[in-house]
Amino acid sequence: MRLSGKDAVFDRIKRSFIRKGLEDRHAQRLLRRMKGIKPLSGVEIEVDGKRMLNFSSNDYLGLSNHPLLGERATEFIRRYGSGSTASRLVCGNYECFEHVEKKIAELSGRQSALIFNSGFQANTSLLPSLADHETTILSDRLNHNSLIQGCLLSRCHIERFRHNDMGHLEELLIKNRERGKERRILIVTEAVFSMDGDQSDIDTLIRLSRDYEAFLFVDEAHATGLFGRNGMGLTSWKDVDITMGTLGKAAGSFGAYVACDTEIRDYLINFCYGLIYTTALPPSVLGAIDAAMDLIPSMDKEREELFKKADHLRKALHGLDFNTSTSNTHIIPIVIGDEEKTMALSRWLEINGILAVTFRYPSVTRGDSRIRLTLSAAHTLEHIELLIDLLRKSKYDFSKQDIHHRH
Ligand SMILES: Cc1ncc(COP(=O)(O)O)c(C=O)c1O
Repeated sequence: MRLSGKDAVFDRIKRSFIRKGLEDRHAQRLLRRMKGIKPLSGVEIEVDGKRMLNFSSNDYLGLSNHPLLGERATEFIRRYGSGSTASRLVCGNYECFEHVEKKIAELSGRQSALIFNSGFQANTSLLPSLADHETTILSDRLNHNSLIQGCLLSRCHIERFRHNDMGHLEELLIKNRERGKERRILIVTEAVFSMDGDQSDIDTLIRLSRDYEAFLFVDEAHATGLFGRNGMGLTSWKDVDITMGTLGKAAGSFGAYVACDTEIRDYLINFCYGLIYTTALPPSVLGAIDAAMDLIPSMDKEREELFKKADHLRKALHGLDFNTSTSNTHIIPIVIGDEEKTMALSRWLEINGILAVTFRYPSVTRGDSRIRLTLSAAHTLEHIELLIDLLRKSKYDFSKQDIHHRH
């Protein structure tokens, strides 16, 4: 509807922050847009109508297309319907939830599990239920945005420790313990870091959390399905207070879970508002998760092959003088630093049929722009060789001309 006169002026004023926000992002060349994607098969996709090899998805085990997930999703729709009709605390707690949670708990070696609607929703509601203004959260400097938002929402005191620096974490624990025993301390970190592809030191984190009576919260988003006993993450069968794992990445479906003891589960059912005040996941998603949990423990061969391919790619990148940060997993960043150069390389790869997305501020700190390569069990050695050949060629091409003006 077109507004006129005074209404149009008020409308312009009311919306000025939106316009300014978009204009600022545009001026800084940070405006984001979504691409139209069509999955074809395995790691092949169509992007805005163009066929490409995907090196940016989190479908690490290739399960998103696995027939068993689709079949079980359909079966659960037949049994329970398309929607769960309400929050789990009202009448949405269909029997399939507790069935899947029991499976996750058993595989993870924990007393219990609790399904959440997504990793973002879990992190932004779990942390406020565990921390308040009398709590200190000690958070790894490279933690994901969902963890940062969760910390902010809890209105706690936040201190960041240097990435994966256990000495620095201990210094902060000592300092905070001196403030009094009654102060609650929460250590919050990731198991495999989403942007750098390195791993945290879970055993030291467990020791520190015991020594300083701190709660330990580990986000396994990029480790679930790939690491630890039964593939249930680096904290699988370990004594961590709260593990948060996601089901939309290696598990090929959607949602998230918490693995913990029964007392913490009971507490969350009563105090975690992101669980209480939301409609439960649809049964189809529970079906797909159920099937993924049947497949993941037996996928050692796929995991082994995936890590071999990742090692091969990392070595080749080092040979080409690319900086892969501290990566030692299936997530391999090519850290370039300069945003324009990073985007130019990403665009060049796209023209050559490879989707390898740029991550830049605010997803990473300014000047740390990177292409984040993620490998999947569905990548063949030929796919990886093709990527390496293109990256080699890009070095040659980009050394001949100013990439700022390439496209
Ligand atoms: C470390 C980490 N935690 C949580 C999330 C959010 O999970 P979800 O995609 O299930 O919302 C992500 C998503 O990329 C992540 O990287």
